[in-house]
Amino acid sequence: MGTRTIARTGRWPVSRDVTLLWGLRSPCAFACPHCYFGTIEEHKINPPDQAGVLSHLSRSDLPGDAIKDFARTLDGSPVQRVVIAGGEPLDWPGTLEVISLIKDAGCQVVIATNAIPLTRPGMAQRLVELGVDGVSVSLDSADPTANDQMRPSRSGRFGYDDVLRGIQTLLQARTDQAGQADQPDRVGPRVGIYTVITRTRPQEITEMARLAADLGVDYYVPQPIALAPEHALFDQMSHRPGDTVDVREQLETLYAEPSGVALPDPSYVQRFLDAVTTQDSGHVPDCFGGARLFFIQPDGSLWDCPSDRRIAATAPQHRRTIRGGDARTLFTERPACTNCSEFSRDCVNMWPLVLDMPRLLSTEARR
Ligand SMILES: C[S@@+](CC[C@H](N)C(=O)[O-])C[C@H]1O[C@@H](n2cnc3c(N)ncnc32)[C@H](O)[C@@H]1O
Repeated sequence: MGTRTIARTGRWPVSRDVTLLWGLRSPCAFACPHCYFGTIEEHKINPPDQAGVLSHLSRSDLPGDAIKDFARTLDGSPVQRVVIAGGEPLDWPGTLEVISLIKDAGCQVVIATNAIPLTRPGMAQRLVELGVDGVSVSLDSADPTANDQMRPSRSGRFGYDDVLRGIQTLLQARTDQAGQADQPDRVGPRVGIYTVITRTRPQEITEMARLAADLGVDYYVPQPIALAPEHALFDQMSHRPGDTVDVREQLETLYAEPSGVALPDPSYVQRFLDAVTTQDSGHVPDCFGGARLFFIQPDGSLWDCPSDRRIAATAPQHRRTIRGGDARTLFTERPACTNCSEFSRDCVNMWPLVLDMPRLLSTEARR
């Protein structure tokens, strides 16, 4: 896949093939009821205390200094790419400095955002100046009302129109910078849309692709919703095997109609369908992620892989943290990942982040 690069510095050349999915901060101004982080309402009553369980109310996010100390150790490490998510990473004032440190270490940076911070003065321009490689914006419906039901802001002040404004502001900032650059084609970031697909709205798969093309974004990734069977919305939102027909039709149309927007590799269609047909256990056969994706939680916990099933199965003595850690040694031990019995829908969602991200970020990937 041509994803390996060589670290610029360090005592000897290091092959770079690791992607970190880093949930940098827990808070978020949105209250998506299906979110991996759970809801504030439920956590006010029952604060989670199990390892690996995320919460927007967490009080154990790493202090800024510990985050920056770790980011400085990325130079000369096997880390090739850092996908910064959360919570909402661009609401935290320290994020821009962390991005700068990661870029200085020679890594690619991709940011997952709700896009509202992009509407604030100077933010989009700063991301362009920092050389951020990708910005993945979450938008769950091409229909404003349906999106704002899936992705309500807690204050009720922000929604669909602001997300579109955020995307447009970033694209404009990129165009402005390219107008002043010697090599305008090399000015980033690539801008994409990530959409969570639920069983009630399979049509989002194609409708969002059309909106993405109209907006002029570079890539688009529909993702199957991942919910635990005990989640209150599982019955309503999670796909059942019988939904495969509609989902397949939508995915086939998506890949048949060239839109000018880059999509995950066509093999993703089957991965998506495999995820959709595994409603009961959430287990999908045949791990394709391998040992190249690690997950960092806001409290610094470092997991070999972001699968909720695998995290839950990690023995306490095998838990690790980036607090005080060094990226040049933390990733030398790789988990044995073939035929993983904990492989789940989460992993399918992660696939475009890891194995396919180089393609989505490449300027040749437009269809
Ligand atoms: C948790 S958000 C954090 C980053 C940022 N605040 C944002 O809104 O993109 C990261 C991504 O996870 C997706 N996501 C959250 N809960 C999910 C679930 N249960 N199943 C699938 N994707 C989910 C979101 O839609 C978003 O695209």
